[in-house]
Amino acid sequence: MNVEKDFRFNDLLNSEHPEIILEKVAPFTELMMEYRCALMEVETKLKVLNEEFAAKNKRNPVETIKTRIKTPLSITEKLKRKGVDVTVENMEKYLTDIAGIRVICSFQDDIYRVAKLLSKQDDITLITEKDYIKNPKPNGYRSLHLILDIPIFLSNEKKHMKVEVQFRTIAMDFWASLDHKLKYKKNVKNPDVVAQELLRCADIITEMDHRMQEIRHMIEEEKEGIVES
Ligand code: GTP
Ligand code: MG
Repeated sequence: MNVEKDFRFNDLLNSEHPEIILEKVAPFTELMMEYRCALMEVETKLKVLNEEFAAKNKRNPVETIKTRIKTPLSITEKLKRKGVDVTVENMEKYLTDIAGIRVICSFQDDIYRVAKLLSKQDDITLITEKDYIKNPKPNGYRSLHLILDIPIFLSNEKKHMKVEVQFRTIAMDFWASLDHKLKYKKNVKNPDVVAQELLRCADIITEMDHRMQEIRHMIEEEKEGIVES
């Protein structure tokens, strides 16, 4: 529990019109609940695809699924960066990554297989796709990003929510987490050398991903009756 924050919140509640504060908070917490529901929906769909694939092919294409809801601080910072007011309406209107899900796959071809199977489901609409695997960022970042529209079924309505799905291989995830850590490190002595090294590592990782996939193909060719969906 963050004592300092709770203390400030209690101060607000003890102010002259606590009902105004509570009224303002309610739509925000409700929206966050809806994003959590949307994440549950997408996560379940991915687990279903993973189960079915595993039953048919004796291996899991999805290694790990991680979900996260953007923090109130990052939400407000991003809205301010976009030059719009911090309101609950604007969160839904301008942000597509409040609900985020990261899908770590074993191999690159699994990424495209699972992404396609997910986005073609008839209750899902693919809003945008950014393929940083085919077109890596200049720093070497690789992942497949999808923005999906998915309905959630509440007691009185069916509501469409946006979810950002990032697909990566284990190797790409290893690279991205190191890159992320270094971004927040202050006083790095040789930032240019570090950036160059990271780019080199990204290339090595890509080469390794391709080789591992080839090894899997070689092993699979030896097995009989493999079902590729
Ligand atoms: P954001 O304002 O960061 O959301 O960027 P964007 O809206 O242009 O979307 P983009 O698809 O470029 O990036 C979205 C998310 O991908 C980021 O929030 C990160 O989680 C991840 N990402 C993008 N670029 C990098 C990168 O260079 N390194 C790492 N570690 N993650 C990245
Ligand atoms: Mg983002």
